[in-house]
Amino acid sequence: MAKKTPFALLFLFFFFPSFTHPQNLNFTFNGFNESETSLTLNGATILKPTGALRLTNQTTNTQGHVFYSKPIQMLQQNSSNASSFSTNFVFAIVTPSSGEGGYGLAFTLSPSPDFSGAETGQYMGIYNSSNEGKPYNHVFLVEFDTVKGFDQKSEEEANHVAIGINGVLSKELEPASYYSTDRGIKKEMDLDSGDPIQAWIEYDGVQKKVNVTIFPINITKPNIPLISFDIDLTSVVKETMYVGFSASTGQKRTSSHYILGWSFSTNGTAVPLDTDQLPPLPPIEKNSPVTDPKIIALTAALAVVIVILFGMLIFFTCCKRTVKFHEDLEDWELDCPHRFQYRDLYTATKGFKDSERIGIGGFGTVFRGVLPTTGAEVAVKRITRNSIQGMREFAAEIESLGRLRQKNLVNLQGWCKKKNDLLLIYDYIPYGSLYSLLFEPRNGFVLSWEQRFIIIKGIASGLLYLHEEWEKVVIHRDVKSSNVLIDADLNARLGDFGLARLYDHGTMSHTTQVVGTIGYIAPELARNGRASTSSDVFAYGVLLLEVATGRKPTDRSSNFLLVDWVIEYQQMGAIVDTVDPKLGSDYAFDEVNLVLQLGLLCTHQKPEFRPRMRQVLRYLNGDDRLPSPSIQSWGSYDSREEVYSRFLEGISSDTIKRTPCRSSSFSCFSLSSLETAR
Ligand SMILES: *[C@@H]1O[C@H](CO)[C@@H](O)[C@H](O)[C@H]1NC(C)=O
Ligand SMILES: *[C@@H]1O[C@H](CO)[C@@H](O)[C@H](O)[C@H]1NC(C)=O
Ligand SMILES: *[C@@H]1O[C@H](CO)[C@@H](O)[C@H](O)[C@H]1NC(C)=O
Ligand SMILES: *[C@@H]1O[C@H](CO)[C@@H](O)[C@H](O)[C@H]1NC(C)=O
Ligand SMILES: *[C@@H]1O[C@H](CO)[C@@H](O)[C@H](O)[C@H]1NC(C)=O
Ligand SMILES: *[C@@H]1O[C@H](CO)[C@@H](O)[C@H](O)[C@H]1NC(C)=O
Ligand SMILES: *[C@@H]1O[C@H](CO)[C@@H](O)[C@H](O)[C@H]1NC(C)=O
Ligand SMILES: *[C@@H]1O[C@H](CO)[C@@H](O)[C@H](O)[C@H]1NC(C)=O
Ligand SMILES: *[C@@H]1O[C@H](CO)[C@@H](O)[C@H](O)[C@H]1NC(C)=O
Repeated sequence: MAKKTPFALLFLFFFFPSFTHPQNLNFTFNGFNESETSLTLNGATILKPTGALRLTNQTTNTQGHVFYSKPIQMLQQNSSNASSFSTNFVFAIVTPSSGEGGYGLAFTLSPSPDFSGAETGQYMGIYNSSNEGKPYNHVFLVEFDTVKGFDQKSEEEANHVAIGINGVLSKELEPASYYSTDRGIKKEMDLDSGDPIQAWIEYDGVQKKVNVTIFPINITKPNIPLISFDIDLTSVVKETMYVGFSASTGQKRTSSHYILGWSFSTNGTAVPLDTDQLPPLPPIEKNSPVTDPKIIALTAALAVVIVILFGMLIFFTCCKRTVKFHEDLEDWELDCPHRFQYRDLYTATKGFKDSERIGIGGFGTVFRGVLPTTGAEVAVKRITRNSIQGMREFAAEIESLGRLRQKNLVNLQGWCKKKNDLLLIYDYIPYGSLYSLLFEPRNGFVLSWEQRFIIIKGIASGLLYLHEEWEKVVIHRDVKSSNVLIDADLNARLGDFGLARLYDHGTMSHTTQVVGTIGYIAPELARNGRASTSSDVFAYGVLLLEVATGRKPTDRSSNFLLVDWVIEYQQMGAIVDTVDPKLGSDYAFDEVNLVLQLGLLCTHQKPEFRPRMRQVLRYLNGDDRLPSPSIQSWGSYDSREEVYSRFLEGISSDTIKRTPCRSSSFSCFSLSSLETAR
């Protein structure tokens, strides 16, 4: 904010119309002090020694008010129009260091400064359930909300500025932002960032328009208001009104709401605050005692985990040489799934900069980063959700997935939750995915058959571990070539396992019954939406065919379907002719034959005919011979037809689009819902 100069003031007053009324009111507080008697503090509001007013602390269900003690004349005797007014203030909303803040702060114009019957939370300490929405309230609010509202307008955006009359429904709402003075670009603002925010509210009683502008404290006031809303307050206000602020916290969501300075005038533009004189924000307060039983449970669970981990640490250090203690501790710490500091992840990814982005997956965006604490390279997957429902349960599951360790899995190092973002931290695998090596190779690089065979076996080991070797069965649900990362030694590492469970917990926005990727979805999964180890085996089978033939599972433009294509060659007795032509003649005939036959067995229409991963690995290692193709009975044309009709029954017509195709196989259908989910 520019420092006020007499010239600037003259300038403002000269160009803004002033409406002279019998009782004009104007005041300016660049910070507040105890000798100030013209303010009435109510509820939880206190004056901090620094000179800041704190309306609420982070205690649940509190409300605080501050009002100018004298009423203002809003309606003049012989005038039909409500008085103009102008106000400038600086506020700050400080959220707890963990969890979400709420509920909000409102500039309030009301017939009385007494809100003894009011409720907290969404009622903002102004209304209660019986008077909310009633015209007799005569209340005008400009709300600075950090919680999603209840009406459709505010459902989308938690972080918003809204105009409300007599109730909690917004008349007008804008996501918190401002138009920057240079070039008028709209920039977002975080209301509950904890930083001081300047606000101007200007009502023109003749134009019958209210303008609301917010902007950071260190820039000049934008020329374009965030909200410019036509409203006639004449019918809303009473003859005299009280002006002030109100804030409340909720049952679960709490923030500290501060007012650092305030000026007001009914005679032209309010005196702009001198931001240099404003009091500083008090240092971050300690969290209020947590009362949410879920948080207590989670904290207790984490505490138990920490105690156990600590016990194990002591155990390990006893067993290992003391000289190595230091290193062990660090390695082990890194290995142990734990909650990462958001700050570290932010630094690691340079603030989630686009240049650090290495991919956009079905579940979120992936960034490369270097952890400032250890210097380790990590991949950070950021999943943005609309709601935190089910998040706490899922946190426990991630903790559990984080304990999975196998050389063919991408290790989940930890997680972090920040506002609506869930961040998952994985090992960084620099080489890229199997998909990119097969289909988008750089410099004409071709994976040799030998390498492909090792990769195939690696994925099988990883899946076997998930299915059978860990303490509980983990269904991957999204086995596909782009989820197989290849490390510098060309080892396959399966990623994204168990993540599809997010859908089950309803934490994703596109909740669909079936999760998977087109071309890899087993028929029974498409029918009943129930993923199983068999449906993972099916997807693995498709992957085998993909690796051997170098062709994608489906190509909708030419109605190509890999499984059917290989079956055709199989029926002609020339299955090995489907081998990737890029390999030339440089492959082991028996191995290619084995992989293709096994691919067909794994993609058998009937789950009970598909081998389990342990068996798959035995076939691949040559421990067992694959049953001969004649016994396998892939399913005749007719039985596939039957599968297809049952498939159709299981899925409602709006989730499935038929695409014409050569042979009538179930996988010729694209699940539109899945496409949006990917
Ligand atoms: C503010 O109000 C006082 C009287 O309360 C008046 O003397 C003064 O001129 C006003 N100043 C402005 C800028 O309106
Ligand atoms: C308190 O504020 C009043 C007027 O706003 C001012 O005159 C006085 O000097 C202030 N006192 C202190 C201790 O800052
Ligand atoms: C928050 O404010 C309320 C009311 O002023 C008070 O009772 C409570 O002790 C405060 N809590 C903290 C943590 O400061
Ligand atoms: C209001 O209008 C009446 C006549 O309609 C007039 O007598 C009176 O002086 C006016 N009052 C003011 C404050 O203008
Ligand atoms: C609602 O608030 C009004 C005004 O503050 C009060 O008179 C009334 O008793 C309150 N009602 C309830 C149910 O608390
Ligand atoms: C409100 O904003 C509009 C558009 O920028 C402007 O024309 C109008 O003069 C403003 N009114 C007030 C009272 O500031
Ligand atoms: C009241 O507002 C109307 C426009 O809405 C304007 O024409 C009229 O002059 C205003 N009256 C006064 C007394 O300012
Ligand atoms: C305002 O402050 C923010 C952070 O506090 C800083 O990033 C920004 O550059 C500053 N802007 C100006 C114009 O000083
Ligand atoms: C209204 O403001 C002007 C300056 O713009 C001032 O001269 C005048 O005294 C003010 N009127 C009242 C009643 O405060």
